[in-house]
Amino acid sequence: LRILVASSEVAGLAKTGGLADVAASLPRALAGRGHQVAVVMPYYAAVRRTGTPVEKTGIALPVPLGGRTLACRLLRTRLPNSDVPVYLVEHPPFFERDDGPGRGLYQQGMPGGYKADYPDNAERFTFFSRAVLEAVPFLGFTPDVIHANDWQTGLVPVFLNEAYRTKPAYKHVRSLFTIHNIAYQGTFGPEVMKLTGLPGWLLNPGQLEFHGYLNFLKAGIVFADAVNTVSPTYAREITTPDFGCGLDGLLRGVSGKLSGIVNGCDYADWDPANDRHIAAKYTADTVTAGKAACKADLQKRFNLPQKPDVPVLGMVARLVSQKGVDLVLSAAPGFLDLGCQLVFLGDGDPEYHDELNDFKARHPDKVGVFLGFNEGLAHAVEAGSDLFLMPSRYEPCGLNQLYSLRYGTAPVVRATGGLADTVVNATEEHLKAGTATGFSFGEFSARALYETVKWALSLYRTRPADFAQVVRTAMAQDWGWDRSAAEYEALYRKVSRVG
Ligand code: ADP
Ligand code: GLC
Repeated sequence: LRILVASSEVAGLAKTGGLADVAASLPRALAGRGHQVAVVMPYYAAVRRTGTPVEKTGIALPVPLGGRTLACRLLRTRLPNSDVPVYLVEHPPFFERDDGPGRGLYQQGMPGGYKADYPDNAERFTFFSRAVLEAVPFLGFTPDVIHANDWQTGLVPVFLNEAYRTKPAYKHVRSLFTIHNIAYQGTFGPEVMKLTGLPGWLLNPGQLEFHGYLNFLKAGIVFADAVNTVSPTYAREITTPDFGCGLDGLLRGVSGKLSGIVNGCDYADWDPANDRHIAAKYTADTVTAGKAACKADLQKRFNLPQKPDVPVLGMVARLVSQKGVDLVLSAAPGFLDLGCQLVFLGDGDPEYHDELNDFKARHPDKVGVFLGFNEGLAHAVEAGSDLFLMPSRYEPCGLNQLYSLRYGTAPVVRATGGLADTVVNATEEHLKAGTATGFSFGEFSARALYETVKWALSLYRTRPADFAQVVRTAMAQDWGWDRSAAEYEALYRKVSRVG
């Protein structure tokens, strides 16, 4: 198969969350399975600052936007640790901005969003989506499928059908649209229709319109040949009013083309057996000593007393309401009473920054907080904590719990979306069967989170053999990309009818 993956972020080049991980790992896995793959993303200042060598291709794309044609150069690099080409869409007025790498400003956008959105995001991502289509003749292959991701590339399937389909190079190109997070939809005023150059009548409730606005995510769902999200449970959840963020009716209507594929974990980056970011490498056989060293290092990094017997609860997350930071903050005094240390690594809403800082100021010897984006520290938290907290309100897939499983850091999760699909709760029954890999609860409440942590700690302290078995079982799970890549492969074949 020949696949073009379009994403607003790609790990190693620019990252704000799990989308970047997927946009790097899935193409690598597909290439490993013998497919021809290319990735296309914007050339942000953040990408330039990584120092990644970039090749000039000499290709200049004419990108129509709002009745004008803007110039744009196509640069090329490779995905880290692979030969997969990444095409970088260069347009300094849109992408050369001052934010450091990891700042979310070029990213997820929209309701209750992650920091402030750029006011010209509609222009930036209409431009990018259009550039993706303009790049097609220059890839050296004609894609069977363009795989677009999240609202930033929601217009790709629309442009493909409405503006490019009649051109011979695009005649057989099909599209897959992946929803990584339905809460971020990219909704803009109706005037944005003019910018896109699409026929105005497409702005109707059956197509691009959402309550008077132009909705990029909806556009992708309506126009793509197939739609998926990143776990089977989330695929079901988003067809209900509680999770659909207003698009559940639409999704029920297109359920025939909607499916769920769990994300994989890239064990080349996330495996304690060869992780350059952690204090001691370890495997399931050496987990006790390895984790002890990583825990001491973590306590040191967060200026906490280095006490081997004090359980450390870790959390790494975008600090947004999705992640249940509020639950953790309410339950946290209880965790301290249970004799824990807590470490937080995150970046996001200022209110959470303030609350976490206050909490740390009150308990400097028990609570560690790092506000900002720090890749190395994320690995250290995964390796050095005893329990990893992910009490999400909703979670399309979640990658951190997959990392936790591999690092032998029992995840404590709310059973929703991908968390429900990947963590087996340590009930007595599952402990007896030897299948438990972590701890989960259903009700979204601080009480339920607290009780679950209390139960996990009672195993940790009084039934060490059972706790060790959970750790062993977790570490033995295989959530590598190969299985998920095979499922994407089947989906690409289905939409493109390439046998
Ligand atoms: P989401 O995509 O909703 O943020 P995921 O669990 O799928 O959630 O992916 C989050 C990814 O971002 C993980 O790779 C995690 O380690 C990383 N991450 C999140 N916040 C930070 C941070 N402050 N510093 C470093 N890495 C982070
Ligand atoms: C989103 C989701 C997360 C998922 C990631 C990658 O940001 O919040 O659950 O793992 O995308 O698909």
